[in-house]
Amino acid sequence: APREVVLEVNGVRHALHLDPAAPLLMVLRNDLGLNGPKYGCGLGECGACSVLLDGRAARACVLPVSRAEGRHVTTLEGLGSIAAPHPVQAAFIAEQGAQCGYCLNGMIIATVALLDRNPRPAEAEIRQALAHNLCRCGTHLEILASVRRAVA
Ligand code: FES
Repeated sequence: APREVVLEVNGVRHALHLDPAAPLLMVLRNDLGLNGPKYGCGLGECGACSVLLDGRAARACVLPVSRAEGRHVTTLEGLGSIAAPHPVQAAFIAEQGAQCGYCLNGMIIATVALLDRNPRPAEAEIRQALAHNLCRCGTHLEILASVRRAVA
């Protein structure tokens, strides 16, 4: 049943009245207007919906919003802005690491989480960190170049 759910997203506190079982992704997109996280598979398999939960990548499409209560949620919007992009966002822009761009939210979130715990990842570690983020365009080489630029 709906109840008050308090979320902290990108440093802003929101008190919302909603079903605590609702997927976090839908709350972010529909209630808070944050469209950085994308709806891809809805099954936790593609990574398009990724957000940072206390700094670790999480799949918002399969995460009940109640599981985000009391934690720091960071979306793509919280990393940087068009005027002042996060270094990982700037690297993806510089390398043009997108074709359709739908997967990029997840790629960037996964990269930020990776570099936070391992600032100098080896190529194999980069590939492993992104292995479960799907890109249907086949833009993997540009994406990997973007991550390497972010590391450099
Ligand atoms: Fe969440 Fe695919 S939309 S993992």
